[in-house]
Amino acid sequence: MRLSIAAVAQVALTGGLVHAASTFSPARPPAIPLAVRSPYINTWLPVGKDGGNGGYLAGEWPQFWSQHTNAWVGMIRVDGTPYTWMGAAADGPAAVDQTDFSYTSTRSTFIMNVGGKVGMNITFMSPVTPNDLKRQSLTFSYLDVAVHSLDGSTHDVEVYADISGEWASGDDSAVIEWDYSTASGVAYHTISRQQQNEFAENNEQAAWGTWYWATADGDSLTYQSGSDVDVRGSFANNGVLANSKDTNFRAVNNQWPVFGFTKGFESVGTESVSTLFSIGLTQENAISFLGQGEGLTTVPSLWKSYFSNGLDAMTFFYNDYATSSGLATDLDNRVASDSLSAAGQDYLTITSLSVRQTFGALQFCGTDSAPLVFLKEISSNSDIQTVDVIFPSIPLLIYTNPKLLAYLMDPLYINQESGHYPNTNAIHDLGTFPNAKGYPAGNDELMPVEECGNMIIMSLAYAQRTSDTAYLNTHYKLLKQWAGYLVNDSLVPANQISTDDFAGPLANQTNLAIKGIIGLRAMSEIAKLTGNSDDEKSFGDTATSYISQWQNLGINQAANPPHTTLSYGDGDSHGLLYNLYANSLLGFGTSFVPQSVYDMQSAFYPTVALEYGVPLDTRHSWVKSDWMMFAAAIASSDTRDMFIKKLANFISATPTNRPLTDLYDGNTGDFPGITFNARPVVGGHFALLALPS
Ligand SMILES: *[C@@H]1O[C@H](CO)[C@@H](O)[C@H](O)[C@H]1NC(C)=O
Ligand SMILES: *[C@@H]1O[C@H](CO)[C@@H](O)[C@H](O)[C@H]1NC(C)=O
Ligand SMILES: *[C@@H]1O[C@H](CO)[C@@H](O)[C@H](O)[C@H]1NC(C)=O
Repeated sequence: MRLSIAAVAQVALTGGLVHAASTFSPARPPAIPLAVRSPYINTWLPVGKDGGNGGYLAGEWPQFWSQHTNAWVGMIRVDGTPYTWMGAAADGPAAVDQTDFSYTSTRSTFIMNVGGKVGMNITFMSPVTPNDLKRQSLTFSYLDVAVHSLDGSTHDVEVYADISGEWASGDDSAVIEWDYSTASGVAYHTISRQQQNEFAENNEQAAWGTWYWATADGDSLTYQSGSDVDVRGSFANNGVLANSKDTNFRAVNNQWPVFGFTKGFESVGTESVSTLFSIGLTQENAISFLGQGEGLTTVPSLWKSYFSNGLDAMTFFYNDYATSSGLATDLDNRVASDSLSAAGQDYLTITSLSVRQTFGALQFCGTDSAPLVFLKEISSNSDIQTVDVIFPSIPLLIYTNPKLLAYLMDPLYINQESGHYPNTNAIHDLGTFPNAKGYPAGNDELMPVEECGNMIIMSLAYAQRTSDTAYLNTHYKLLKQWAGYLVNDSLVPANQISTDDFAGPLANQTNLAIKGIIGLRAMSEIAKLTGNSDDEKSFGDTATSYISQWQNLGINQAANPPHTTLSYGDGDSHGLLYNLYANSLLGFGTSFVPQSVYDMQSAFYPTVALEYGVPLDTRHSWVKSDWMMFAAAIASSDTRDMFIKKLANFISATPTNRPLTDLYDGNTGDFPGITFNARPVVGGHFALLALPS
């Protein structure tokens, strides 16, 4: 049985005994992204006091977003004395002193002091290259470990790292197989479930595919697979591994097989030397999809378009670190400079934590000439291609590559245009990840005004940013059908749920109505761009008429200060009018929704703000971070800065210990009884940066 020392470390931490205090910049987030690259490569370090150890890499187990331990152990020997730099192995050597942690959009970096003798810079980098599909298709992440002398003397140093079989199965009783080999200068362990279940999951982790855990091949490298006690003990005692393979394939939790590497460095001086690891999962097929034709089809992983097999993909990735690192720095710098100039350091604290999390929910599939991107909702449930989860995510996608909107919408269009959905409204989602089997019986979660509005708004946003009006022509029939639904149902929305379904159904939701009405205005624009002038006028007239009626129905002018209501006629109620953002995103400006509505909301929000944000509506003290940033993006500068400051404060203060939640209690910063985490909707934090210039 394996014991965790996390609890011990936490107690000791409180007394300041184990760890010297680390600094954290730009913030100490609730969980630190380690390898966050796709729905199945999604491993974090828990930080918050609900169960993390405060952000120290040594003394805590990395976890999959679902909280399953993904054991990842790092040790180092300096002149023969072993230390732990990652993980919480029982009986492991003492922890190194962590002196600093920092993060950027693509990197998490830890600075360690090893006994005053050696410094370590440990960098976890998960690339994000949405304009370079070949690189984006590679479902791998990097770990770079650099060491240098701190005291001016030279030291003999050995660096160790291993992973356990927990990466390859969400079920610890499943039997795994493994192997070790070398290719193209890369040494690698492979690990996979003995029983491969394509398109199945165990506790959210994939039940198929091959994991690669790799480093550079060379003379000073040793490797070993075997029980955790044997492999780690071999390093701690000897500084080398046995170059041996355990041949007894067994369950993940049967004497915990681990897969280790050790790299030796002689006479390390003040000049830094480093060793690079990579971790990733290859799956030939990624998604089962009800698309064209009658039955389910198999969608390949996108890397298959560029590489003939998983090994070639892995060795390319490993040997691409210099280029990949340069591209990562470019993105880090772009996000930093744009966020700082838009709204300052607090905003950068938010945006730079949101990039890997958003892309970590996306599975790049299909082919180079016809890419498809599938999204996993993550944690709220495991729905695939949820339209109202794609919608809040689009600011980051528009900011990085607007074509991603089409790659995400295409599966929805293909499914519905192939006659697989009977209803006249837009579908809500395509099923449960990774099975996009649709709803041929029309029995999806009913969110009709929300999804009709979302699809029309996203289609126009995509076409505006890419000039691809052909896309609008191709899908015109369906877009017009959805607009017809909005003509019927947007001004006076029936009792229904909106995207905030956790808050329950309600009739006449003011914020839902304006989404539908802006959707009609967008449909008029789509008709214009495609030369359908009758539709342009008809939808345009309806939108204009509705928006003026909406102002009478949805605004409490008598209140002090005046504000929009949660629902028509409920004067004391209020809510975040985040759907107004689409009016600005699509460039309709104040000729459609008057400036007075924007000004009124900007003046109102500060009057109802809680400690960590403005509540979503009067039903709860719950705050939704993505929608707050939508509201912030179109608010006066004072109100915008208030929103941003409160969200940045939440990131540092929340007691939650899971990947950034987008839903929390505005008074306590804790989960409101619902544990959303790691969801891609944090892409909405880029709302300020997605507006047209
Ligand atoms: C390691 O981190 C220190 C402190 O941040 C920095 O000064 C140094 O340049 C880094 N070295 C490498 C090789 O990244
Ligand atoms: C709108 O309402 C009319 C009249 O009830 C109905 O015939 C039509 O099918 C509805 N349109 C949509 C798209 O649901
Ligand atoms: C919704 O609002 C309309 C317009 O004010 C009103 O006629 C209708 O009764 C309201 N419906 C409900 C369920 O409150």
